[in-house]
Amino acid sequence: MATQNAATTSDRTSAIDALHAATALYTSVPVVEALLDRMGWPDADGRLLDPSSGDGSFLVSALRRIATPAGDFDALARVQGWEMHPQAVEQARERIVDLLISRGWNEHEALRGAEAVAHEGDFLTDNPQGTFRFVAGNPPYLRWGHLPSVLKETWSPVLPSFARGDLLHAFLDRSVSIMPEDGVIGLVTSDRWLFNATTTGLRRTIGRKAGISHLARLDAATSFYRPKTRRKNSAPRVHPVEVVLRPLGEDMLELDGRPISPDGAFDEVHEGPVLADVATVKLAPWLGPKGIFLLGSDQAMTLPGADLLPAVDSDDIDPVTDILGAPTRFAIRTSRDAEPAGAVRDHLLSARERMPKRGRLGRWWMPPEAITLPLDRPAILVPRIGKRIRAVRLPAGVLPVNHNLYVVAGQAGRSLDEIESHLLSETTQAWVSRNAPRLEDGYLDIRAGLIRRIPIGCGAIGSGDRLS
Ligand SMILES: C[S@@+](CC[C@H](N)C(=O)[O-])C[C@H]1O[C@@H](n2cnc3c(N)ncnc32)[C@H](O)[C@@H]1O
Repeated sequence: MATQNAATTSDRTSAIDALHAATALYTSVPVVEALLDRMGWPDADGRLLDPSSGDGSFLVSALRRIATPAGDFDALARVQGWEMHPQAVEQARERIVDLLISRGWNEHEALRGAEAVAHEGDFLTDNPQGTFRFVAGNPPYLRWGHLPSVLKETWSPVLPSFARGDLLHAFLDRSVSIMPEDGVIGLVTSDRWLFNATTTGLRRTIGRKAGISHLARLDAATSFYRPKTRRKNSAPRVHPVEVVLRPLGEDMLELDGRPISPDGAFDEVHEGPVLADVATVKLAPWLGPKGIFLLGSDQAMTLPGADLLPAVDSDDIDPVTDILGAPTRFAIRTSRDAEPAGAVRDHLLSARERMPKRGRLGRWWMPPEAITLPLDRPAILVPRIGKRIRAVRLPAGVLPVNHNLYVVAGQAGRSLDEIESHLLSETTQAWVSRNAPRLEDGYLDIRAGLIRRIPIGCGAIGSGDRLS
């Protein structure tokens, strides 16, 4: 039994070490100070909790803002931190001791004081006691699947399923659930929970109690630093935001499950018509690697019996003029109900082994994603990744591939020309740059859902031109 306990303890120690290595991305002082300002700490009564206090950035900045006369443990206890990693707790305590000694505390009491502020423990299971009017910090971000199994076993029974996708979700849910009626939560988070479909339930649950009173992007390059022991490892890639949550009230962004954009979240609540009312927006199919369903012209010539569609990708577009060049690829179109014969059959069967596993789920003669785009009319191709929206005209019968976006006129009677000029209008470009998630180097993640949500109350399809 003793051996088993020892093994369990050492498993847990290694798990906490691995967790800390994966999540310790400490917040730089200017970001901490700006967030405490936004939350109004310490303008109101009440205590402040950092639920994952790391080396104590939030704790030290919060303490600096309140009077802590030598030996006044009650004043000190207004600020509390929880942290699972013992060395990080030690570092936080050292910083607090330094602050207290500089304020006239003797060494012994400063040490006791630091221990009363920075606790070693698990925020998700230890339930810090009492009411915290302020919760401030930068919770750990780590996907559930990447957690060490010991910690999954610890947290599975205590976390609701909607809060289990990522450790951040569990921290958000727990912080809101302990928020009192006059509470305020200020957190640095990665941005994905605000708009991913998988976090709809989390947003909805949080939204029953709290709304967003402030939301803004942070600069990943300057907002964080790594613990000394971790500097050699590359820092995780995150798209950080600062967010302030308060109990439901006026002038706040509701959390009702719908996606929220971190860009310009407070200056554009659009209730009117959107592009999806006048156009159909679809995702171009992925047909697998070149040489199976997608062929170069030479290879296509060897299959005279095949139903071939000219196919285009973003590399067929002139980067300066956005004009499409002559297609150099062809896609084999097959039908679910008709097993091909002859040369097409021989080609697809022999090329099949080059199809990656994820593309081999259906019938052998069907591509991984079926060709269902309405190709009987001219369309617009919008590349999925770009620094702005690009609208490239496609003649009827030309198939875009590889998850480019495909836009055709809808039932509302708007012409493709009108839709194109609206997509390219300055108003739309500005809206997209505020609302599209950021990728590296100024590129934007332009998804079908985003294009569908483009407001059409202004710009080329203007307000004087509204749908009836
Ligand atoms: C992103 S760091 C933030 C540290 C600090 N709040 C800051 O902003 O500088 C997250 C910290 O959470 C700690 N942590 C992870 N899971 C925890 C849990 N369940 N309870 C308490 N701390 C946890 C990690 O060890 C890590 O130090």
